[in-house]
Amino acid sequence: MSTALKLSKLELWPTVVWGCELPDHVSHNATMIEALEQERLRDPAGPPERSNPNDWQSRKSLQDLPAFRPLMELVVQLVMGPIQQHYRWDTRDRTPKIECFGNFNGPGGFHRLHNHAGSLVSGVYYCHVPENCGNIRLHNPHKLMQVNVEPPLMGDAGNAASVFYTSIQPQVGRMYLFPGWLAHEVEPNRSNAERVSIAFNVSLAPKGAASGIRSGDAQSGASSSGKRLSRRERRARRGETS
Ligand SMILES: [Fe+2]
Repeated sequence: MSTALKLSKLELWPTVVWGCELPDHVSHNATMIEALEQERLRDPAGPPERSNPNDWQSRKSLQDLPAFRPLMELVVQLVMGPIQQHYRWDTRDRTPKIECFGNFNGPGGFHRLHNHAGSLVSGVYYCHVPENCGNIRLHNPHKLMQVNVEPPLMGDAGNAASVFYTSIQPQVGRMYLFPGWLAHEVEPNRSNAERVSIAFNVSLAPKGAASGIRSGDAQSGASSSGKRLSRRERRARRGETS
């Protein structure tokens, strides 16, 4: 006699990566690339600390320039809409703060493994992507799985539960948003042209407060936000209801 098993399956701590296309991106891209070129002429050295050490990156101050307004408005719309609803954040007393910066990666250019510690939501938007200019790799945050010796995967059948990272091919006009703590890198640009992308960090600051976002190093996992949760918030994050 066989007895059917009543098997339960609880999927814990999912990591959601949101994707979206910027409407009218062809015209917006021309405007944004022109603004980035101007910024590179004005500040050719860029910031000393950056994830693409061999290439140019702007200062994290593009968010208020008119050229980037449509992109910034879409980012806010997504964070304060579907993403806020997904996490059930209480945003009644919060206001979004964004910092935005641009990247030109020439042939051979890459972004080393890093995260955006202190940023609630981070993301990237693609203005110009020559063929083979480098995929973004999002690394599996379940780092301890790497200490186990697991059996090989069945061909290409690895999924998000078993792979160490997921590679996404960039597309012009498309953006991805993900938790700021999620480690990621960009493969070397194997084309003969520049890859142009725009990155952003979003925090939800108490109304009237200044933003405190800093990018971090994925290896150290350092956070520079300095923000502390209240006891009630910590208990809520632990799933404790009383
Ligand atoms: Fe990044």
